[in-house]
Amino acid sequence: MKPLLLVANFKSYMTKNEAKNWLEEFVPAYKNLGNIDKKIILCPAFTLLETFKNFLENANISIELGAQNISRLPEGPYTGEVNGAHIKDFANYVIVGHSERRQYGEDESVVEEKARIAKDYSLTSIFCVQGADNKIPEDVSIIAYEPVFAIGSGNPDTPENAEDVAMKMKKLNKDYKVIYGGSVDSANVNSFTKMGGIDGVLVGKASLDVKEFLKLIENA
Ligand code: PGA
Repeated sequence: MKPLLLVANFKSYMTKNEAKNWLEEFVPAYKNLGNIDKKIILCPAFTLLETFKNFLENANISIELGAQNISRLPEGPYTGEVNGAHIKDFANYVIVGHSERRQYGEDESVVEEKARIAKDYSLTSIFCVQGADNKIPEDVSIIAYEPVFAIGSGNPDTPENAEDVAMKMKKLNKDYKVIYGGSVDSANVNSFTKMGGIDGVLVGKASLDVKEFLKLIENA
């Protein structure tokens, strides 16, 4: 059921300065929108999570944070890994199995391990799939349907097809929340969010531009 989930995936963009600029523009304008019944989750790079957390806390607005990835390993002697405990210091969500990670080496067993370990650290996975046939690991409650052709291409899937995938997922488990991602922008967002089976959107490019993202939030 609603409220809609609007998830921003900033990918590997934004320096710390750019993040501050984004927040300084976004936060007052977001407050001006008044009470909106939509849940916003911002997913910046690991290095920016603290900046986002501090800024949002100081502004006293209830926007959630998520990471874009998680180590499949726990705390330990794993040089370079960012684990669930690190993320939990700042965020409650994590994107798992994005196609841009699968493309660079994460196979089904790795993304499954990641979903499992996210749960161990009390993080909610936003589990990305490319279609209704993808296996959904146990304990996943939020699924993002993101067909590869639609990501960053300006060529979104049709709302009808996204709805069809969402309904197939919900047949497996009626409690799944299914969001759509792939070339969502302020102009097309409502065509997806008005579908009964679609619980929100995962937004890449359109989230980087504050004005566009605010419009998207309003239009969703
Ligand atoms: P896009 O990216 O909105 O730029 O297509 C979506 C995503 O990759 O999550």
